Amino acid sequence: MSDNVNRRDAMGMALGACAAVGGVYSLVGMKKAWDPLPSVKAAGSTVVETSNLEENVIITEKWRGKPVFILRKTAEMVAKSSSNDKARDVIIDGKAHLVCVGLCTHLGCIPAYRKDKKDFLCACHGAEYDASAINTKAPAPLPMLIPPFKIDGTKLILGEAGPEYEKMKAAGVLGSTPLDPKA
Ligand code: FES
Repeated sequence: MSDNVNRRDAMGMALGACAAVGGVYSLVGMKKAWDPLPSVKAAGSTVVETSNLEENVIITEKWRGKPVFILRKTAEMVAKSSSNDKARDVIIDGKAHLVCVGLCTHLGCIPAYRKDKKDFLCACHGAEYDASAINTKAPAPLPMLIPPFKIDGTKLILGEAGPEYEKMKAAGVLGSTPLDPKA
C-alpha cells in the first residue's frame, strides 16, 4: 500500500515537473511569437543615403506605406527661400533638402514635382506647393507633412525623431499648421 502510494507520489511529482518545464517552454515560445520580428522593427524606419542626390531632382522613398519626397535644393532655390521655407529645410552635410510625405493635404493625391518651375502641382484639383512643400494655391489647406526624421552623417533616417525634427516640431513648421510661403 505504502509502496503504491510512494510510486504514485513519485509519478505525480515527475508529471508535475514535466508540466512545469513544458509550461516554461510554452511561455518562451509565446514570448517569441509576440515579439516583433527584426524585419518588422526595421520596417518602422527607412534609411536613405543622401550623398549621391542631385540638385533639383526629386526622389520618392517609401516609409510606412507612404511616399516620402526628398529634394536637394539648388543654391538659387535656397537664396530665394522665405523664412518659413528655410525653417523646413533639412540640412544634411551642409546641403538644404525638402523632406515631406508626398500626399496632397487636400484629399491625398500625390502631387508632381515640376522641375522647371521648382514647385509641386496636384493634378487632382489644381493645388500647388512651393519647393518647401508649403501650399501656395487652393484647395490645399496645409503644407505637406514633414515626417519624423533623424540625420546620421549623410544618412537620413525616416521614422525616428532626431533633434532637428524636434526643433521643427517646436517651431510649428512640420505642416500640421498653415504657413505663409512668403513669410
Ligand atoms: Fe490635391 Fe485635391 S487632392 S488638390
